[in-house]
Amino acid sequence: MNLWIIIAMLVVAVPSVLPTDPSKNKNKGRGSMWWGIAKTDGTPEQTSTQLDPAIFSTLRQKQRRLVRENPGVLGAISRGANHAIAECQHQFRNRRWNCSTRNILRGKNLFGKIVDRGCRETAFIYAITSAAVTHSIARACSEGSIQSCSCDYSYENKGGKMHEWEWGGCSDNIDYGFKFSREFVDTGERGRNIREKMNIHNNEAGRNHVAAEMHQECKCHGMSGSCTVKTCWMRLPVFRTVGDNLKDRFDGASRVLINSDKNRDTSNAIMSNSASSSNSVHGPRQGVGRRQRYGYQLKPFNSEHKPPGVKDLVYIESSPPFCERNPKLGVLGTRGRQCNDTSIGVDGCDLMCCGRGYRTEHVTSVERCNCTFQWCCEVRCATCKTTKIIHTCL
Ligand SMILES: *[C@@H]1O[C@H](CO)[C@@H](O)[C@H](O)[C@H]1NC(C)=O
Ligand SMILES: *[C@@H]1O[C@H](CO)[C@@H](O)[C@H](O)[C@H]1NC(C)=O
Ligand SMILES: *[C@@H]1O[C@H](CO)[C@@H](O)[C@H](O)[C@H]1NC(C)=O
Repeated sequence: MNLWIIIAMLVVAVPSVLPTDPSKNKNKGRGSMWWGIAKTDGTPEQTSTQLDPAIFSTLRQKQRRLVRENPGVLGAISRGANHAIAECQHQFRNRRWNCSTRNILRGKNLFGKIVDRGCRETAFIYAITSAAVTHSIARACSEGSIQSCSCDYSYENKGGKMHEWEWGGCSDNIDYGFKFSREFVDTGERGRNIREKMNIHNNEAGRNHVAAEMHQECKCHGMSGSCTVKTCWMRLPVFRTVGDNLKDRFDGASRVLINSDKNRDTSNAIMSNSASSSNSVHGPRQGVGRRQRYGYQLKPFNSEHKPPGVKDLVYIESSPPFCERNPKLGVLGTRGRQCNDTSIGVDGCDLMCCGRGYRTEHVTSVERCNCTFQWCCEVRCATCKTTKIIHTCL
């Protein structure tokens, strides 16, 4: 009950912190049309050369050029976009906002209208999609499915020789993936206003999380399995790791100031804000030799907080209430969602159903069970009835 009062207070508090001025329009994101590529199925046949013209037409000029000039990238982008959706839905499966997508081709609307708003959910969507493109391009390079890149062999000239092992083998090409994601994913985000800066920061954070989790793998070639000869290469993390890390950053996302454009402090540029990690040879790069696109520092909304780092997610507006359906805001509401009646977390029925209550059903399913192998040669199973209790928000 106490919880209820707190939530009620939060809901009441929201309108007062929402921007109400005309500058709101420039904070509205246009979404990223390329997300629609997820709707191609990612098979090589469909994506190596041809793309559904309806989707192709949603890409920007520069993105079309990148796709044309780099045969094979389309399949990787498509796989990446689908990984991003699956990972987002996994990470948010137990939350009021569950990262649902709409079954329509146009990318901007893939995640619904929530992306119009510069809230933390939107921050996560940008970061995970950018990370996924980085990841799938880097892997596609080392798998040989993109003509313009290959394994990363640059480690061969670095270190190694002093130790008992040598670099060799095929490293996932994080450099190429990182740069390609910048070119492709960030197209159209020029950092002209705070919303574009938010998008770029979150895209970059997604890429940095992939780069930071690169790790060394080795294989021994010595006599009878001894490790006198060892070759090593750099391997991408499994994408779940990136999803988990980004979800942590979502929970601790930094709200930044809407008008931080004006009091810009160049001495505090992002370049000095390094987040390299000890086990990554190719750590995150910040704006190396790029236009000033990546060289800015966003100011925290609460001046007592630290400015956001290069792996943090940033947002500029509070999230809408996700309890009730609101098509204007792209909110589906939690009616019909399953909840857990014993959990006190966000998946618990109290929070998930926003105090509206829930229905409890006993659902019986019949399954094959207790299967035994009978000599010879058949498998006999019993049928088991299992009853599950399911709670559904009203
Ligand atoms: C998300 O929740 C909505 C109801 O609010 C439901 O219709 C949809 O299937 C859910 N999506 C996923 C991916 O769980
Ligand atoms: C419900 O929540 C409890 C407590 O957090 C947890 O132990 C249990 O596994 C959850 N049940 C389901 C079906 O997720
Ligand atoms: C499964 O097999 C065991 C051993 O044959 C038996 O005791 C048990 O009752 C069976 N369970 C079901 C649900 O059929």
